[in-house]
Amino acid sequence: MASEPDLRVQLANLTLQNPLVLASGVMGTSPGLLHRVALSGAGAVTAKSCGPQPRAGHPNPVMVAWDHGLLNAIGLTNPGVNEEIDLLKEVKALLQPLQVPLFASIFAGTMDEFGQVAALAAQAGPDLIEVNISCPNVHDDLGMPFAADHQSAAGVTRAVKREVKDIPIAVKLAPNVPDVGRIAKAVVDAGADAITAINTMPGMVIDVDAERPVLHNRTGGISGPALKPIAIRCVAEIAQQVDVPIIGTGGVLTGRDAIEILMAGATAVGVGSALWYRGPDAFRLIAAEMGDFLIQKGIGSVKDVVGKAI
Ligand SMILES: Cc1cc2nc3c(=O)[nH]c(=O)nc-3n(C[C@H](O)[C@H](O)[C@H](O)COP(=O)(O)O)c2cc1C
Repeated sequence: MASEPDLRVQLANLTLQNPLVLASGVMGTSPGLLHRVALSGAGAVTAKSCGPQPRAGHPNPVMVAWDHGLLNAIGLTNPGVNEEIDLLKEVKALLQPLQVPLFASIFAGTMDEFGQVAALAAQAGPDLIEVNISCPNVHDDLGMPFAADHQSAAGVTRAVKREVKDIPIAVKLAPNVPDVGRIAKAVVDAGADAITAINTMPGMVIDVDAERPVLHNRTGGISGPALKPIAIRCVAEIAQQVDVPIIGTGGVLTGRDAIEILMAGATAVGVGSALWYRGPDAFRLIAAEMGDFLIQKGIGSVKDVVGKAI
């Protein structure tokens, strides 16, 4: 019988038991849910993004499933970073025995605020801080995402690195830019230890009977299957520009999807909408399917597929 393939990967200074990382905002809103996802086989988990103050988010409806994906405009609902510190500490204690790293996720409206929120989040001792500069649903009060431009993306990265010395940071990029590789390079030159690619893609779904958009916010972010080819293209472009690890995120539902994004150049794989499509055991299922693929191909370690297709 073939021996089990090695699914472990190295992400900055961390070892993940497998490459699958819970993407921010999906089931990551409470310690109990993050613990549940860790128990179900995730290699690491990312908490819901938190900002400087509590935010209620957008009015309902905030999410719709359509033929080829999900569309959401949650609007960064969160309790604010001060409360998040306690939440992260609680999660960390729950995850310690499982050897599943915890990623915090932060957002803010200005570069200075990003630095301040990062410094506070760091007090909880997360294993990595993801810097969300790419939420597409909050222009009205937070302005254009910093991910839209290489200089502002680099500015946020520097502001966070000034405040956070001992914890690796991953900067989360947006797909709807003309040259995502250039933005990734600027962010890495500014000190990012990793890149997360990508956040959701802006979209709209209209109810033709009601003659209006389904979401109260009108537009939202597309995730799930429709996002996958966009994510694969972004990861491939970024991998050609930078040497830091990439958490490839967007539309991964199966083991083959995960292998595809690794072959595009990702080191780890963000998984969000799969929980909606495949239920709470999505991580275990996807990891098993990755293992089956590697056995079938006679590949001993998942690291060996990284960047294979580019
Ligand atoms: C309901 C929902 C909420 C999300 N909230 C956040 C968030 O708070 N912060 C963030 O960086 N990304 C957020 N995202 C984006 C995901 O982390 C991920 O980048 C995106 O959904 C693509 O991956 P997927 O196709 O596997 O879901 C959210 C996505 C969904 C579906």
